[in-house]
Amino acid sequence: MSRPSTVLLTGGAGYIGSHTAVVLLEAGHRVVVVDDLSNSSEESLRRVRRLADGDLSFHRVDLRDVEALDAVVTGAGIDSVIHFAGLKAVGESVDQPVRYWDVNVGGTIALLEVLERHGIRKLVFSSSATVYGEPERVPIDESAAVGATNPYGRTKQAIEMLLGDVAGSSPEWHVVLLRYFNPVGAHPSGDIGEDPNGIPNNLMPFVMQVAVGRRDELTIFGDDYPTPDGTCIRDYIHVMDLAAGHLAAIERIDSLPGCRAVNLGTGSGSSVLQVVAAASEAVGRPLPHRIGPRRAGDVPASFADPALAAELLGWRAERTLPEMCADAWRWQSQNPEGYPAG
Ligand code: NAD
Ligand code: WQD
Repeated sequence: MSRPSTVLLTGGAGYIGSHTAVVLLEAGHRVVVVDDLSNSSEESLRRVRRLADGDLSFHRVDLRDVEALDAVVTGAGIDSVIHFAGLKAVGESVDQPVRYWDVNVGGTIALLEVLERHGIRKLVFSSSATVYGEPERVPIDESAAVGATNPYGRTKQAIEMLLGDVAGSSPEWHVVLLRYFNPVGAHPSGDIGEDPNGIPNNLMPFVMQVAVGRRDELTIFGDDYPTPDGTCIRDYIHVMDLAAGHLAAIERIDSLPGCRAVNLGTGSGSSVLQVVAAASEAVGRPLPHRIGPRRAGDVPASFADPALAAELLGWRAERTLPEMCADAWRWQSQNPEGYPAG
């Protein structure tokens, strides 16, 4: 157990940030959240406070507002930062590239400016397996070539490069780039979970909205891929395992100088049809679905080689696909419309 520290979570009201906040608080760390609530609700943090004792403060700030961010950090005794804040919808990034580069890259630059002012030099960044683009082989390890195929992914790649340059500017920097595979599931209480705006882009929230009756049926994007059942294979990882990975990164960061990329995945892939079957099992009835055309940009198979995370962070994913579906369903069935407005 490392000593309690104070961790700044940018984007901490969001899906992954709120689950990570619970895990950090349970481990005795103090948590300071900055979030502009552009894709989240303060209700998530009220629920985090109910789930975990400890010291959590919230500041509604747009990361790009350097002076507002500076005011939050001043005197807060921040030891390290987990930088979740950003925009994450691939399709939207194709339509709005300037907004994506502004929020994701501009927000990171603003954050770095404030961290430099305050001498804070420990940072964990939410990167994504999307930086691997079309992988040459699976499982994907961190030495694989990067080459994102959409603007969202390119902002992640650019931020990784930026953080590499920053870490190279002083030996005091400790930066961990966590490349998440496909985060799904929810806190086992069902009190916090994923609450996308509008029509979900991602598979699990779409499946859960079908289960709860908000959507009629799932369209499976193609069943003619070169995989055993013809549907795409992904490395789904339970958000509580992901949260534990962030805790491990924060608690090990002192021994990780420089800048390094680490995959957070389970190491095993599931097809879309396997996810639908596991979700139907969790829900207790078949879920309507049909086969549609392929979605542009999907790769047939993507799953992690998670060995480096085990070696550097002492972390491994533990939860199974049935647990991911059971916890996602508990959240969705208890909160059919997501968080209440306001
Ligand atoms: P999310 O949208 O739920 O959380 C992001 C949070 O950032 C939101 O609460 C949003 O309000 C906030 N935010 C956005 N712009 C901001 C700004 N300018 N200032 C302050 N706050 C701002 O998304 P998530 O799924 O929790 O993802 C967190 C991070 O992980 C993101 O950087 C995302 O790109 C990355 N990631 C997510 C996935 C995934 O599938 N969920 C996969 C890989 C990487
Ligand atoms: C999974 C599989 C779809 C919806 C995305 C981002 C990636 C990362 C994680 C942020 C694919 C299929 C989906 C549907 C379907 N996010 N599917 N019907 O595409 O692996 O990754 O989220 O960094 O950057 O690209 O995840 O959940 O969208 O799709 O058949 O309605 O489910 O074709 O095979 P993806 P996903």
